[in-house]
Amino acid sequence: MCGIVGYIGNKPAVDILLEGLTNLEYRGYDSAGVAVNVEGKVELYKAEGKLQNLKNIVQEKYEHISKSVIGIGHIRWATHGVPSVTNAHPHTCNCGKVAIVHNGIIENYKELRAKLEANGCTFRSQTDTETIAHLVASKYAQTKDLTEAVRIATKEIEGAYAIAVIHQDVKNTIVATRRNAPLVIGFGEGENFVASDVPALIQYTKKAMYLDDNQIVTLTPDSVKVIDENNNSIPLKIENLPWEPVALSKMGYKHFMLKEIHEQPDIVRNVLTGKLKNIDENISLSEVTLDKDKLKDLKRIQIVACGTSLHAALVGKYIIEELCGIPVDVEASSEYIYRTTITDENTLVIGVSQSGETADTITAIRQAKKKGSHILIVTNRPDSTMAREADSLVPVNAGIEVSVAATKSYMAQVISFYLLAIYMAEIKNSASKEELIKIKHELIVLPQKIEQILNHKSDIQKCAKAFSGHKDFIFIARGINYATALEGALKLKEISYINATGYSAGELKHGPIAMLDESMPVLSILMKGKVYEKILSNAEEAKARNAKLIAVTNSDDIKLDELFDSIIRVPDIEEILSPALAIVPLQLLAYYIAEFLGKDVDQPRNLAKSVTVE
Ligand code: M6R
Repeated sequence: MCGIVGYIGNKPAVDILLEGLTNLEYRGYDSAGVAVNVEGKVELYKAEGKLQNLKNIVQEKYEHISKSVIGIGHIRWATHGVPSVTNAHPHTCNCGKVAIVHNGIIENYKELRAKLEANGCTFRSQTDTETIAHLVASKYAQTKDLTEAVRIATKEIEGAYAIAVIHQDVKNTIVATRRNAPLVIGFGEGENFVASDVPALIQYTKKAMYLDDNQIVTLTPDSVKVIDENNNSIPLKIENLPWEPVALSKMGYKHFMLKEIHEQPDIVRNVLTGKLKNIDENISLSEVTLDKDKLKDLKRIQIVACGTSLHAALVGKYIIEELCGIPVDVEASSEYIYRTTITDENTLVIGVSQSGETADTITAIRQAKKKGSHILIVTNRPDSTMAREADSLVPVNAGIEVSVAATKSYMAQVISFYLLAIYMAEIKNSASKEELIKIKHELIVLPQKIEQILNHKSDIQKCAKAFSGHKDFIFIARGINYATALEGALKLKEISYINATGYSAGELKHGPIAMLDESMPVLSILMKGKVYEKILSNAEEAKARNAKLIAVTNSDDIKLDELFDSIIRVPDIEEILSPALAIVPLQLLAYYIAEFLGKDVDQPRNLAKSVTVE
């Protein structure tokens, strides 16, 4: 959701800005822009729509623009004001000397705007961001010091922001700061970088520092200085980034989503490494710092998350209740934060997030922390805001996920929940050793089973082709795979814009069945176990209403061929592990349908990879 890049050094800044923005495209955006300083003058270049539109504009004047060795760039995901060139960042003050890029939302922008207008500022855009440009300009007029101007300007701002600022009269400096929005500084030789995420700078440097809330950084080509909001100097905490630039390559796949789906067998192996060493040994989860006696005494667990991470949490609930006998509530973070939640020191609160930057989940865990709960974070980004606020951090090691539609991070979250549940069950002695050994064994062989599905993806491709003309879909399942139905439907609607809804199969006859006819395919997740026969009956009920039926199943019962119009068979697996397998064909089905429909698979419209506003 929005992306910032800033560069100061000795190379044409525009090249680095456009490359950096390209590597942030996955965050989701609808316009883009850069500000550079060419021969002592701040110049802006902006375009609506894809980054390529901006690249075309820059190309026409490349010789001129490339003279600048300082610049800031931005991709914008519209919050205040429509996507347009006027609303695209960077924004400037009235004299055009201050240029600013911003992620986040300024909550008091209306009051600020009124004050600034009363003082003679003229606003050109509908954005909240433009207020910061005018505010910084007015503070600079008083202080003649850009860092100080930013520092005192931010004291008047309420809300979330990561910003980067340049000033025409301060040619050798970028100032940046953050509050509740991520910002990372990259350290080079004779050049320095600032960005809202690592992919923007990883190909230039692996030396980085994450800025904390309210810290202000001043970058020149040869120096990086950080202060806090009270002007105290902050020592530099430079770390080596774990990411490899190759993570940003499609490696021959047509889309990042397809590549990431194919990475899942290795992701499972990664997540298990070092934690599940041997089926006879206990799971080792040194990341969980919750005292073992406290863990035994836990009265309840609450899991907060959004979107796909929420679905992983639902699988987690099922496994933890089954193996540990602790009641687990799962709630969308956006709901959790606006009601009276009953939580205390006997409640473990788990936040699940691929990005670790989802605003609603951050707010939820902060609320729970204040009430004394131990906060355990399951995230793919150990460098994120949520990770830094965690009491226990379970990193899911899925590597960077570029496609907006989450796939491999979901798999890694689900596998992490198996490990966490077994870990707790072993401490609590709440499940039989045989049961736990069976699950551990299944986890170890899971990657091969996923590989078998990937090797037979042409069947899924055929099914996708046959059903790609439908405008609506229903996904049904029961028990542990209810979450799989929700996640499969979410994948389809996210990238193909088809109206797909996941239902608990038993709920079909309580309403949704009214919608069924030949135009509404029903996909059943029909995995062997407690609810197999029940789902089969629900599928029969749908058939009786002329719905076309698809099954994802590990059953080899040939009678299914009579009932279902299309069957996607997956390897056999214990029911409790089945969500980790059944989701793979659903990811592929969504992918191939979207591809047949010619959709922008990796960057679906209106969506952002990291949702940093509430
Ligand atoms: O980074 P998070 O896991 O906290 O993000 C939560 C959702 O925004 C995210 O899962 C979203 O639903 C994805 N687009 C799913 O594919």
